[in-house]
Amino acid sequence: MNIFAHRGASGTYPENTISAFKEASYLPVHGVEFDVHMTADNELVVIHDEKINRTSDGKGYVKDMTLSELKNHDFGSWFSADFAGETIPTLQEVLEVFSSTHHVLNIELKSDIFPYDGMVEKVIELVTAMQMESRVILSSFDHGAIQKAKQLAPSIKTGALFMEVLVNPVDYIRNIPADALHVLFPAAIRPSMQEVFEAGLPVRTFTVNDEKYAKMLEQAGVEAIFTDYPEKMYTILQAKS
Ligand code: G3P
Ligand code: MG
Repeated sequence: MNIFAHRGASGTYPENTISAFKEASYLPVHGVEFDVHMTADNELVVIHDEKINRTSDGKGYVKDMTLSELKNHDFGSWFSADFAGETIPTLQEVLEVFSSTHHVLNIELKSDIFPYDGMVEKVIELVTAMQMESRVILSSFDHGAIQKAKQLAPSIKTGALFMEVLVNPVDYIRNIPADALHVLFPAAIRPSMQEVFEAGLPVRTFTVNDEKYAKMLEQAGVEAIFTDYPEKMYTILQAKS
C-alpha cells in the first residue's frame, strides 16, 4: 500500500509549508498531497483552509488577499516557534521542491467552497510548463473541477474526493469521469465499496495516522493512504511486509 504525506509531513512540520514539503521530499514514500486556493490577484497558493486564520498570524480569506499581502504573514509560528517566518508557498514553489524527486504529487483543488474561476486552467498550465503531468494527480471535492481537468488534459490522472458512504460508486465515478476514488477513512471499508475494488479503480483513503487502521485498509485492498506521519507509517508498513 502506498503512502502520501498529507499536507506535506504535517504531523511534525507546519502543514502545507516548504519545511513540511522538504521533509516529505527526503522520505522514501510514494507521494505527497497538498491543497490549492487562488488569491485576489489570481495566484495559486498552497493552504488548506479558505481563511488564513488557523495556520497563520493573520485573518481573512485567501480569495480577498493578494499574494504579496499573504506573503507578509507568518505560517509557521502557530505550529511551533521553531518555524517562525515560514511563508505561504505558491504552487510553483511547492512543485519546485519535488522537481528532481520520485514523488507523485496529489494537488487537491479546493474550489468546493469558492469556485475560483480559472483555477483548473492555471494549475494545468503550470504543471504542463514544468513537465510534471505524468507525476500529478488532480483531486477535488468539487467534481466539476476534475471533470474540467479531464477535458483539458486527458492524460493527467484525477481523483474524486468523498466524505460520504456511497451508493453505486462505480457508476458515479465513471460518469464524471475520474480515475480514482479518494475517500474518508471509515467510508472506505463499507460494503458498497466492494464494487470499486472489483472494478479495479484505485481507492485512496484519508487521513490515516493509526497503525491498526492502516493495516486494516491495506488488507481491504486500498491502494494508498494519506497520513500526517509519513515516516512513521512507512516504517510500520515496511516492517510488516
Ligand atoms: O486529499 C485528501 C484530503 O486532504 C482531503 O481532505 O480536508 O484534508 O483536504 P482535506
Ligand atoms: Mg487535502
